[in-house]
Amino acid sequence: LSAISRSFSSQSTPPSFGIAFDIDGVVLRSEAPIGGSPHALRRLYEDSGALKIPYIFLTNGGGFRESVRALELSELLGLNISPSQVVQGHSPFKQLVGRFENELVIAVGKGEPATVMSEYGFKNVLSIDDYALCFDNIDPLAPYKKWTTKQVSYQSSNTKATDLRENIRSQRVQAVFIVSDSVDWSRDIQVLCDILRTGGLPGREVGHQPPLYFAHDDLAYQAAFPSERFGMGAFRIALEAVFNRIHPLALKYTTYGKPNPSVFKNAETLLEQLVSSMHRNAHVADHINTGTHHLKRLYMIGDNPSVDICGARKAGHPWFSILTRTGVFKGKENHPKFPADLVVDTVEEAVDYILRKEC
Ligand code: G3P
Ligand code: MG
Repeated sequence: LSAISRSFSSQSTPPSFGIAFDIDGVVLRSEAPIGGSPHALRRLYEDSGALKIPYIFLTNGGGFRESVRALELSELLGLNISPSQVVQGHSPFKQLVGRFENELVIAVGKGEPATVMSEYGFKNVLSIDDYALCFDNIDPLAPYKKWTTKQVSYQSSNTKATDLRENIRSQRVQAVFIVSDSVDWSRDIQVLCDILRTGGLPGREVGHQPPLYFAHDDLAYQAAFPSERFGMGAFRIALEAVFNRIHPLALKYTTYGKPNPSVFKNAETLLEQLVSSMHRNAHVADHINTGTHHLKRLYMIGDNPSVDICGARKAGHPWFSILTRTGVFKGKENHPKFPADLVVDTVEEAVDYILRKEC
C-alpha cells in the first residue's frame, strides 16, 4: 500500500483501477456499518486523509441530495467523502431537466424528494405530500393515519393559501418521478392513479398518461431486519397491478438505476474524472491533469445478484464483479443465474482482494 501512495502522490503514476461500492447490504445495513466497511474504505486513503484509490458509492437508494448523503456517509464511516463520489438511483433524473424544467412535476418518496429534484434544476416540482394536500378528501384513509405530515403553508384556509391550492389543482402534472421508496403506499397508489389516468388533472376525465420515471426497480434490499425488505420494484408492481385494472392501456414507465448499463458507463466516467481531480490535488505533472484518465479495471462490490452483479456483467469490460454475503445474497456458492467473478463474505475481504491483486 505504501508503494501505491508513493507512486500516486509523488511519482505521478495514477492508479489503473477504480472501485464502485454498493451501499445497502455491503457498506451499511440501515445506518450501521457492516462487513468491516470503515476499515476497508480507510485503506483507500493516504495517512494524510487524501484519497489514494478512486472509488465511488453506486447505490440505487436515495431520497436526499448527493451532498447530504455524502455528509451522512462521512459521519457514519468516519471518512471524508465528497458529493462527486455519491451516485444514487435518482441521480440520472437531472438529464431530464431540459424536458420538464418549468413544467409541474411530482416527486415521490422518503426523505426530501422535491428538494432533490429542485437541486437538479426542476423549477416547478412538488412532493406528493404537498400535492395531495391541495385536494380535499383525495385520501379517504388520511383521518385514520396516526402519523402527522409536515403542514405546508398553503394548507391553511386563508385566501392566499386557497388561491395557491387552486392554482396547483389547475396545472396539469407533466411527469411523475419516484425518487425514493414510497412511505405511504395506499395514499401514493391512489394519488398516482388519479394523476396518471387523467392526464395529470386528478378528479377530471380520463386522459393521456404522463411519463412516469422510477429511480430503480429493486424488488427487495437489505436493511436492518434479517430478511430483505420490499423496495421500489415492489411498489412499482403494486401500482402497475392497480393501474392496469382501472385503465384501458397498460402503465408505461421507465426505470433508472442498476442494473442498467448506462449506470455503469457513467460510473466509469466519474471514476476517471476522480483520478484526474486527485492528480490535480496532488500537484503532479501537467500532462496528466488534462482530460480524464483511462482505468483498466473497475470493481463493482455488491450484495444483490440480479442488480449489482447482473449490471456489472452486462456492462462487460473493464468491470469485475464481487458479490458479498452481507446483504441480499446469503448463499454458500456463487449465484446460479448471475454468477459474480468473485464471491466473498464481506466488503473488507473484497477490498483486501483488490489491493493484493492491483498493488
Ligand atoms: O432502496 C435502496 C435499495 O433498493 C438499494 O440500495 O445501496 O443496495 O443499491 P443499494
Ligand atoms: Mg445493496
